[in-house]
Amino acid sequence: MCGIFGYVGTKNGVTLALEGLRRIEYRGYDSAGIGVFEKNKLHCYRAVGKLENLEKVVQGKSSTTVIAHTRWATHGTVTIENAHPIMDSSKAVAVIHNGIIENFQELRAELEREGVVFSTQTDTEVIAQLIAKCYEGDLLKAVQVAVATLKGAYAIAVLHKDHPDMCVVACLNTPLVIGVGIGENFVASDPNAIIHHTREVIYVNDGEVAKITADKVELFDSAFVKIPHKIETLLHNVEDFSKGAYEHYTMKEIHEQVQSTKNAMYARFFEDYGTVVLEDLHLKPDELLAVERIVIVACGTSLHAGMVASYLIEELAGIPTEVEISSEFRYKNPIVQKGTLAIAISQSGETADTIAAVRELKAKGAYIVGLCNVVGSTLAREASSCLFLRAGPEIGVCSTKAFTSQLVVLSLFALMMARLRYMSKVDGQKFLKDIAEIPEKIALVLEKSHQIEAIAKKYAAYENFFFIGRRYMYPSSLEAALKLKEIAYVNANGYAAGELKHGPIALISETCPTFALCADALTYDKVLSNVMEAKARHSKTIAVVYEGTKGIKSIANEVIEIPNTRDELAPILVAVVCQLFAYYVARLRGAEIDQPKNLAKSVTVE
Ligand code: AGP
Repeated sequence: MCGIFGYVGTKNGVTLALEGLRRIEYRGYDSAGIGVFEKNKLHCYRAVGKLENLEKVVQGKSSTTVIAHTRWATHGTVTIENAHPIMDSSKAVAVIHNGIIENFQELRAELEREGVVFSTQTDTEVIAQLIAKCYEGDLLKAVQVAVATLKGAYAIAVLHKDHPDMCVVACLNTPLVIGVGIGENFVASDPNAIIHHTREVIYVNDGEVAKITADKVELFDSAFVKIPHKIETLLHNVEDFSKGAYEHYTMKEIHEQVQSTKNAMYARFFEDYGTVVLEDLHLKPDELLAVERIVIVACGTSLHAGMVASYLIEELAGIPTEVEISSEFRYKNPIVQKGTLAIAISQSGETADTIAAVRELKAKGAYIVGLCNVVGSTLAREASSCLFLRAGPEIGVCSTKAFTSQLVVLSLFALMMARLRYMSKVDGQKFLKDIAEIPEKIALVLEKSHQIEAIAKKYAAYENFFFIGRRYMYPSSLEAALKLKEIAYVNANGYAAGELKHGPIALISETCPTFALCADALTYDKVLSNVMEAKARHSKTIAVVYEGTKGIKSIANEVIEIPNTRDELAPILVAVVCQLFAYYVARLRGAEIDQPKNLAKSVTVE
């Protein structure tokens, strides 16, 4: 969840660190801090709140060796004391940390019994105190011995007052990448922080420790043996991290969906045969034909994409497909029979629960297809095949363009599996044509922004909402509700429309509007009945329907029309409507939007 940046070189690392943290601030923004050497003395500067508060504190500072951190609080409240870097009692060691040390209480108790006095509530301080205890002049060795006692997840960067030209890093179950420069080296939790300096990177693997100086990177395994390091090249573009003309990254990324969905489908159509070519899927047709069951693991918005995919794959390809919440799945004893294919969906490719679920599935022999937006991420490296979204960096914490790109790629996957089985070429070509029209239909939805904003104005003050839908509109309602929760802090419930009468309808009233996602031809009449049931209980109703739907205007208080498409693809267009609605409500409520309170872009802790 936290952002980590380190630099050893000849330039002013303070400037580079602030710029690097800015690029990954979406990973956590409760507090920020930086460790530097001034006149060869180790100092740490920290500030609560956004990065700009730290910038004020370190204005004019300079250091050629730095570690820097933006925090998403796990252990310990958001205070200056708990901001990283965290130092040991003698102020000899400075540590920045992403992850959770699960055995920190017992380690802390043991150190306190030895007389160590702790000054923070963090688990990270245990690491700093342990390294100081183990230090006998060799920082690398001290870190190796200290981390060997840690359980849980960590990506750390460490400075010591005796070594102004060195940084030691280590990781376990949490991403860490070293950027290799000329006469300088970098370290970060996310390649986005360093790609504009170097594309040559070394991914630090679990249990490894690296010693970094300006001219050298030395990697050691958990047995302290020096190992060769593989330098890989970051392929993705140095993206435009500016908001452009937009007030928020979130709105910029909502509008990028015309292009991002085009990117997701680019060069993946095989139109002559009404099927799909997924260049990164390393399975032969006979292996794909042998698939008898699909398990999808994901969290949050990616989970909702997986739910849409389960309807798609079962309806189009006739393959039993189940969707599992990663954080639940990882504690099951999963049944992975012959013919089981797993799909792991993660925009960041770093979600700890999904990575753990993937590792368990691999241990059971499943073939893992990753769906990811970050080249070089843990999921991209651990999946058997990885299908990239090509959506470009998604900076807004609430996922928008990644979700619709996930739906495009999953639709293509479902079509490919269907054409391998029962779907005819003509039907495949029709499906491809409908997918190809999606980007322009998103543009048409975006043209309704003013209408959606006007509706948001009427409903921005409500504290409770229901989003309801059936079939493909059910996961769509879960996703719509999550958007409103995340960025507008409104208590929004997504529900299967048919379930309303089994209890939740008790909550429907004039103080709880009902947002009915009716863009599903097969179940439209049924959802319309649910709209009337809500209306009969004085709930204001907002209906999203296909253009030209008759009769709805006399029933719902508000009607938002989307371009016609097949039901299987409607979740993509409906998502854009609901993203816009949530954005406008959040903006009217004065919420933060890009960096909502308590959230982080990549949930790399359990
Ligand atoms: C979505 O708007 C949220 N930010 C969150 O639910 C997110 O989808 C979830 O944490 C999964 O992230 P991932 O796709 O990177 O694995």
